Amino acid sequence: MRNIVLIGFMGTGKTTIGRLLANRLGRPFIDSDKKIEYENGMSIREIFNAYGETYFRQQERSMIARLSHYNNTVIAAGGGVVLSAENMVRLKRNGVIIALTASTETILERTGRRNTRPLLDDFEKREQIVNKLLKERMELYQKADCHIDTSNSSPQQVINEIMFFLRQGGYLRGRS
Ligand code: S3P
Repeated sequence: MRNIVLIGFMGTGKTTIGRLLANRLGRPFIDSDKKIEYENGMSIREIFNAYGETYFRQQERSMIARLSHYNNTVIAAGGGVVLSAENMVRLKRNGVIIALTASTETILERTGRRNTRPLLDDFEKREQIVNKLLKERMELYQKADCHIDTSNSSPQQVINEIMFFLRQGGYLRGRS
């Protein structure tokens, strides 16, 4: 059966929702960033600091290339996965793509809780940066098969919406 791939901006809930969804479906869950961290023995922040964003994007591309050969897995991708068209082609080939969205306010609130995102390090300019990146990436996130706003929903509500979409589309019966 096809993978279920969660994409979306930082702080939209990909990891939390992905883990819950995988549990609900009894499928394996893989977080692309966590796997990159594990294999490099470094956090995303440390990778950015030591080698820069270009290196991280290469790592991300090669991880996505590998994950796209998996089956029946729930995959949470990093927020910037959409920046590479190659990533999206690969993920789509064997997966249904669900984009999680959230308001700028919600994103700032959620990403402000833990300082793990190197792209949002400039505290004074966080709102400006989030708005700029959202604007740049909006069109790319729109290429998903389904969009779900997580701003005012509980994780359970989001899971229910995803399950509804997956059932309606026949994605759980392995015919798509
Ligand atoms: C990034 C998002 C992060 C991580 C890296 C870059 C981005 O993942 O991959 O910090 O470019 O949006 P999350 O979306 O899981 O925070």
